[in-house]
Amino acid sequence: MLVKNNEDLYELLDSLLREPTEFWNTFYKDKEKNVPFFCDRPDEHLVKYIERQIIKPRKVLEIGCGNGRNAIYLAQKGCTVTAVDLSQRAIDWAKEQADVNNVNIQFVCENIFNLNLELQEFDYIYDSGCFHHLSPHRRVSYIQFINKYLKNNGYFSISAFKENGKYGGSSLSDKQYYMDRTLYGGLGYSKEKLQILFSEFQEIEIRDMQHNNLNRDEFGLEDFIVCIFKKV
Ligand SMILES: C[S@@+](CC[C@H](N)C(=O)[O-])C[C@H]1O[C@@H](n2cnc3c(N)ncnc32)[C@H](O)[C@@H]1O
Repeated sequence: MLVKNNEDLYELLDSLLREPTEFWNTFYKDKEKNVPFFCDRPDEHLVKYIERQIIKPRKVLEIGCGNGRNAIYLAQKGCTVTAVDLSQRAIDWAKEQADVNNVNIQFVCENIFNLNLELQEFDYIYDSGCFHHLSPHRRVSYIQFINKYLKNNGYFSISAFKENGKYGGSSLSDKQYYMDRTLYGGLGYSKEKLQILFSEFQEIEIRDMQHNNLNRDEFGLEDFIVCIFKKV
């Protein structure tokens, strides 16, 4: 490959690591397997942002929507939702669930870095568990993505593995992932790392996810960090 621009360079680096589409399609083959987020409950922090009116989104983009549990909640709360995932199996499952819940969501099966929607149209971009599966160089593409699709004064949220937590959350150096050619199941983040990475945005809140094993309406796992930022 002849690297001519940044995108060529990112694609070259992508090729050193796992190709995600096949991995995630295989991951979603068995919907009955014991995966915590194979459920129909929305994230606890998302429910709080909406109930406490920290955000009042109208048009929402969910990235890495999986089975659609958060997209469906947002649609039930009156948002116009576009939900993207690169796995066709995840999208098919999410469409089924949207039908069961009688909500209308625009689903798109695509890698977020190949997405081609209208520019800057969303009030809120929601990511539950996608960002920590992206390789270090794709953080640059991720911030470009947020700036491209989020309106000024819009918000975005991420939930990610905490470093060295129960679910992994690798804390190796960025260089090591390319040397070992693996992300070790997902990268771990701390409050400080998120503050550094998203310093061009206004921090609204960064906190631990609340572990909600007794709450039947909301989903929460220990060893996750959740954050919400504003594009100003
Ligand atoms: C840990 S799962 C979380 C799924 C869902 N957000 C949830 O919490 O139930 C991560 C999701 O991100 C999707 N994903 C990973 N990388 C992606 C990318 N570059 N573009 C679009 N989707 C991606 C995967 O297919 C998977 O569904």
